[in-house]
Amino acid sequence: MNLPKLTELDVSGKKVLLRLDLDTNPDPNDLRIKASEETLNYLKDNGAEIIILAHKGRPSHEATEYKPIFDESLSLKPFQSIFDKWNAKVEENLRFDPGEEGNDPEFVRRLADLGDIYVNEAFADSHREHASIVGLPKLLPHAVGFRFEKEVENLSKVFGQPRRPVIFLLSGLKKDKLDYLPGLEKFCDKILIGGRLPDYLGDEALESVRTQGEDQKEIVGNLVMDKEDITLNTIERFEKEIKSAGTIVVSGPPGKFEEEGHRQGTERVFKAVVENKSAFKVAGGGDTEKAITLLQLSDKLDWVSVGGGAMLDFLVNKTLPGIEAMKN
Ligand code: 3PG
Repeated sequence: MNLPKLTELDVSGKKVLLRLDLDTNPDPNDLRIKASEETLNYLKDNGAEIIILAHKGRPSHEATEYKPIFDESLSLKPFQSIFDKWNAKVEENLRFDPGEEGNDPEFVRRLADLGDIYVNEAFADSHREHASIVGLPKLLPHAVGFRFEKEVENLSKVFGQPRRPVIFLLSGLKKDKLDYLPGLEKFCDKILIGGRLPDYLGDEALESVRTQGEDQKEIVGNLVMDKEDITLNTIERFEKEIKSAGTIVVSGPPGKFEEEGHRQGTERVFKAVVENKSAFKVAGGGDTEKAITLLQLSDKLDWVSVGGGAMLDFLVNKTLPGIEAMKN
């Protein structure tokens, strides 16, 4: 994929609007922050003035109109000290302005007036058609960050000519992940469904793991009584599928791994993934990354993506709105 490269822009003495993903904790060791370091170092070393644009969370809106309500807990101020070493200025949460999510041309213009160049180092947000993702590259010279490039390169291996079978673990809490099932069926051989997702699919009374979808590719796990983990039966079925995989994608933890009593599913399934030495293994998303870190498995995977929804979107559509915007 031919993306405009940062090294092809002259950033010296320029104000660079750097879109980062700060939808995380203000911790310098957080993956999303660490992932932006190479780009930050490059910009600083090449004499750019860095202005960071980002969002955090999903601010609530006034009931009657689309007007976000300011919420101190979603402020980006706690992030400023992390970026002081690059002399970078962190602007406030973009989503406090309705123009961000609405991709309002006037808001895009206001953002563009803050800088000379736009750099997207927010792969994790590039599935959103928001002002700072798709609007800014239309008005300013632009490029993607170094991590963004690597995300595209590594994730493309999953749909290029993947080693088969391709096994996709779709878990976690977000119901909207289920919308990706038809797209996933197109390139995956099996989709293992865990986390809270089997509950959203209904049929709670069923007692054993069931299959559904095109060619029975979807293997829907069963949940324990309180729904915070998958059953032993499901763990064993998932392990069996993972053992024979040529490519494995992990999107979401199968249970509430933060609690020891509900960690079994995540621990056993994630361990089965890393024990398959011959498979190409990728994982992505905030919770997945936290579970991988807790279980100390990060270095046993081929790629850990910063993207949750963005990774899914990219794998299914082979592009993202933020990538398309870069091409024009
Ligand atoms: C994420 O955390 O996956 C990204 O920041 C995107 O967040 P969103 O789903 O609120 O757009």
